[in-house]
Amino acid sequence: MFDLSESTQQIRDLARDFARSEIAPGAAERDRTKQYPAELVQQLGEMGFMGMFIPEEYGGFGMSTLDYVVALEEICYADASVGVVMSVNNSLASSPIIAFGTEQQKQKYLPLLATAEKLGCYALTEPDAGSDAGAQKTRFVRDGDDYVLNGTKMWITNGPQADICVTYANIDPELRHRGVSAFIVETEWEGFSVGKVEPKLGISASGTSELIFENLRVPADNLLGQESHGFKVAMATLDGGRIGIAAQSLGIAQRAFDLALAYSQERMQFGKPIVANQAIQWMLADMATKIEAARLLTWKAAVLKDRDEGGSRACSMAKLFASEAANYCADRALQIHGGYGYSKEYEVERLFRDARITTLYEGTSEIQRLVIAKSFLSR
Ligand code: CAA
Repeated sequence: MFDLSESTQQIRDLARDFARSEIAPGAAERDRTKQYPAELVQQLGEMGFMGMFIPEEYGGFGMSTLDYVVALEEICYADASVGVVMSVNNSLASSPIIAFGTEQQKQKYLPLLATAEKLGCYALTEPDAGSDAGAQKTRFVRDGDDYVLNGTKMWITNGPQADICVTYANIDPELRHRGVSAFIVETEWEGFSVGKVEPKLGISASGTSELIFENLRVPADNLLGQESHGFKVAMATLDGGRIGIAAQSLGIAQRAFDLALAYSQERMQFGKPIVANQAIQWMLADMATKIEAARLLTWKAAVLKDRDEGGSRACSMAKLFASEAANYCADRALQIHGGYGYSKEYEVERLFRDARITTLYEGTSEIQRLVIAKSFLSR
């Protein structure tokens, strides 16, 4: 069987204790008020959970992807909104700087991201470049020692709060992905502004917004990777990000299962607990099986990434299966709760809404299937 090392178990236990004692109690209220969990994010930073992969020499803890997914599952079990803030800072903002950054960029930005002194975001999506990420219309031109960026990004998680933004722009949209470069932008620079903040179905305590670049001057030193090689930065980063969303999905699914099991044992109908009915047992059995399978795929993708072996396929399989499982489990948990599950006074209602994003962001389920199919069709 798949045993976690002692140190990974300790990381999981630390995340679990913090999640259940500090994050879970306020989750319903933050969901209702859409209040960004600034204090919790700071605490996660102090505990090392906001920059888990960042090497010690840059102020992080140099933990593994497996450490990350077990910790993230625990955080998302308590509140998927807090989890996505953590996930973006780790997978989408810190990781590309670790993998593609210059020494100077690493020294400047990683220590700030590691402690959550500064928050990161990843701005790829545009109004007309969603699944078709290569259709980047945000333009860049070189001007002396700077690049100048113009364009609009949307659906950017952490957009309203971020201090550091890993973003993408095209030298010529006609070139599609071959013209794309990656940049590290500080959000306080002139020419950067936050546009519309999205009202959302779920993960309501996390911020999602448009970002607008108007003659945004980015020093040439802040080009991330080579010029016109930004699409590979974007795709490689998303591979890792997708493992994070698989872990987020697992947290939601496990919470939905635990609530459904407890409720079905308490709820009496026709003179017996509803769990005495095979119909309910079968739902619980299907949920438990999907969670187990999702966890194995997620852990496998994490281990392969740590060994630098997995490629995109394992990441997409984990994300596809776990996100669909989260939606299944949240839906069945709501069904088991009957009318109560439809009430905002029951947690499964929030899980049902929070689960819904997982098959959409960081690549829809349909895009994951394309990536998986490509892995065997292109051989
Ligand atoms: N790693 C490195 N390079 C990769 C790669 C990867 N995983 N995947 C593709 N590439 C390279 C290819 O090798 C190819 O290189 P060459 O030009 O040298 O041949 C290049 O990138 C283009 O590849 P494709 O032809 O496969 O590109 P495509 O245009 O067909 O798109 C896609 C492929 C998989 C559909 C991609 O566009 C995609 O992943 N789309 C979904 C985008 C997405 O997930 N967006 C979510 C954004 S983040 C978010 O959700 C918001 C948030 O804040 C959380």
